[in-house]
Amino acid sequence: MSNVAVIGSQWGDEGKGKIVDWLSNRADVVVRFQGGHNAGHTLVIDGVEYKLHLLPSGIVRKGKISVIGNGVVVDPWALLSEIDIVKKLGVDINPDNLIISENAHLILPVHQAVDHAFEAARSGNNKIGTTGRGIGPAYEDKVARRGIRICDLAYPEILKEKLESLMLHHNALLRGLGADVIDVNEVYDKLCNISDVILSYAKVSWKILDEARKTQKKILFEGAQGVMLDVDHGTYPFVTSSNTVAGQAAAGSGVGARTVGYVLGITKAYTTRVGTGPFPTELFDDIGESLGVRGHEFGTTTGRKRRCGWFDAVAVRQAVRVAGIDGISLTKLDVLDGYDEIKICVAYELNSKRIDYLPASQVEQAAVKPVYETVSGWKESTRGARSWAELPAEAVKYVRRVEELIETPVAMLSTSPERDDTILVHDPFR
Ligand code: GDP
Ligand code: IMO
Ligand code: MG
Repeated sequence: MSNVAVIGSQWGDEGKGKIVDWLSNRADVVVRFQGGHNAGHTLVIDGVEYKLHLLPSGIVRKGKISVIGNGVVVDPWALLSEIDIVKKLGVDINPDNLIISENAHLILPVHQAVDHAFEAARSGNNKIGTTGRGIGPAYEDKVARRGIRICDLAYPEILKEKLESLMLHHNALLRGLGADVIDVNEVYDKLCNISDVILSYAKVSWKILDEARKTQKKILFEGAQGVMLDVDHGTYPFVTSSNTVAGQAAAGSGVGARTVGYVLGITKAYTTRVGTGPFPTELFDDIGESLGVRGHEFGTTTGRKRRCGWFDAVAVRQAVRVAGIDGISLTKLDVLDGYDEIKICVAYELNSKRIDYLPASQVEQAAVKPVYETVSGWKESTRGARSWAELPAEAVKYVRRVEELIETPVAMLSTSPERDDTILVHDPFR
């Protein structure tokens, strides 16, 4: 019996939330291990939609423990407001079923101010198109060893000192960028107002996970973003500021690498990306537009229109390798219903040479051209299919071709946003 890590294998929004929710039925504990409220994970259960940003997707199921791991950056106000929203949908959230790692770092209003100021200062093509949630600046502070952590909220004097030195650093930057500076006392007072409630969820999460491991409880690790947004392996610098690969599940939750278990890469049957940066298979025509309309490709977090394109088997095969993906969950197959022909990117062309990987250089990433293979589409609907037998032969062929090209099996298939419109091919927990 294995634990499972769910990660995105493309540029995010592959449908991780839906799959984590489905798999959480088989798990005891669900842990988020990186990212923050830049993530937007959508669950649809009996027609009710839940949009989760910081809360692990296991939260909606009774009897499961949800952990916000040490690798996550936590905006405490965003968290409290999300708890409020989700509670209003009838979900029970309390310190018994939600745990925040005491060593997770905080996102403060200054991080959002710096995120916005730097984005505004970047010129046209250099803009990253961040979610503006302060993710990058918060991770920078963590690595620079001036970050403020959940456990610091218990010690107001130290908290004040840390805030003062943090603000000294950031206010100088903000002033230099011509932005408004942040008042230390105001942030300190705001933090003190919520510290008790935040601390009520704070626990020694690595110990809880260790106990779960020892007692053979099943742990589901929930990634955010996707491998192509990984700070090392993605389309740098057009990436997020954390590692999104499965290795981060161990570091970002405080378990050994072997505890992570099976790595399930969530993979959309085509490709989308929000924000700027290279996207070799992006379509600027009616087909791109129609993928966006059929797939409702608007960001869960920022509402931005997602860029759309054909399936990029080169990028996904690379993601499979650098992230150690054991099997994929192919999502949104239904969005491809009705096309006469479907294209799959099987290689790139760079300077008139055919290559089989995405190079690291941002110049080369912007220059690669997709080499397509064309396969037949299908006219029947796959929407809501719950078994292989319900899939048209051409859809099955498409899935098989994807498996071949990415050299990885399809473990699950998803055919609508609804929880149960899911086909299990083999159980990642076994
Ligand atoms: P995540 O960030 O990876 O969790 O993905 P998002 O929730 O941001 O975006 C995926 C969107 O596709 C959500 O609106 C889901 O409800 C929806 N979705 C997930 N799986 C499927 C599917 O198989 N078919 C369709 N049509 N929609 C899906
Ligand atoms: P989920 O978990 C898609 C993108 C942003 C931007 C870049 C950096 O829902 O798949 P950041 O705010 O992280 O500094 O922005 O990363 N991005 C996402 N794109 N899905 C996400 O999360 C994303 N989280 C960040 O659009 O291009
Ligand atoms: Mg999303």
